[in-house]
Amino acid sequence: MLQDIPTPTLHEASKCVLETERLMLRRPTLADVKAIAALANDRHIAENTRRLPHPYLHDHAVEFVRAMADDPRETVFLIENNHTPIGMVGVDWRKPDAPELGYWLGVDYWGQGFATEAARAVIDFTFEEFEFERLISGARVANPASRNILEKCGFQWSGVELHRFEALGSSTPVDCFRLSRSVWSSLKNWGNSTRRAR
Ligand SMILES: CC(C)(COP(=O)(O)OP(=O)(O)OC[C@H]1O[C@@H](n2cnc3c(N)ncnc32)[C@H](O)[C@@H]1OP(=O)(O)O)[C@@H](O)C(=O)NCCC(=O)NCCS
Repeated sequence: MLQDIPTPTLHEASKCVLETERLMLRRPTLADVKAIAALANDRHIAENTRRLPHPYLHDHAVEFVRAMADDPRETVFLIENNHTPIGMVGVDWRKPDAPELGYWLGVDYWGQGFATEAARAVIDFTFEEFEFERLISGARVANPASRNILEKCGFQWSGVELHRFEALGSSTPVDCFRLSRSVWSSLKNWGNSTRRAR
């Protein structure tokens, strides 16, 4: 559920706060860098995200938060559960006609449906606030949990590409997915049918 009134520019979008049943998604600030560094400093996360370095140091988190504050090409949200930071989710707008969804959670928070819940909130927000035709995303072929999230959010597989992962220091195959506005809109409007006894 959208809590604040969103603003029309991409840069302002990350100032919005999104709320779901269990999560609050908000812009990360310098007060969060300790928590972000503690969560992100795990090889299991770095090896599944393209740009996260490993080890992930306090200075990486400072640099990231500062960059996000100035960079109009990304809308990034810190994910909180019970007021505790648990991970990040966002959309990279470097290719404006194909914005890209990405996310990661601290390992202690895996396996509870949090990433799906956060991804759905950001997908809804992005389609509702901006004009574009499709979101893209990707998951390493060795990352079934992330593929599962994308499929549960309505993404459709579109092929395999090789992408470079900073923490691996090499390229690796990635399953690519897309979610078109029409599929998203159809899923959002798929109401419950009722069954009547004759
Ligand atoms: C991928 C990641 C975000 C998943 O977070 P999460 O909160 O545990 O995900 P969810 O619980 O919302 O959903 C994961 C789904 O995958 C399933 N899953 C988990 N591990 C799996 C596995 N090894 N094989 C198949 N399915 C798996 C879960 O059962 C769940 O599906 P379900 O709800 O139908 O049961 C988390 O593991 C992470 O941060 N990984 C490192 C970074 C990363 O991979 N980011 C994504 C890059 S695109």
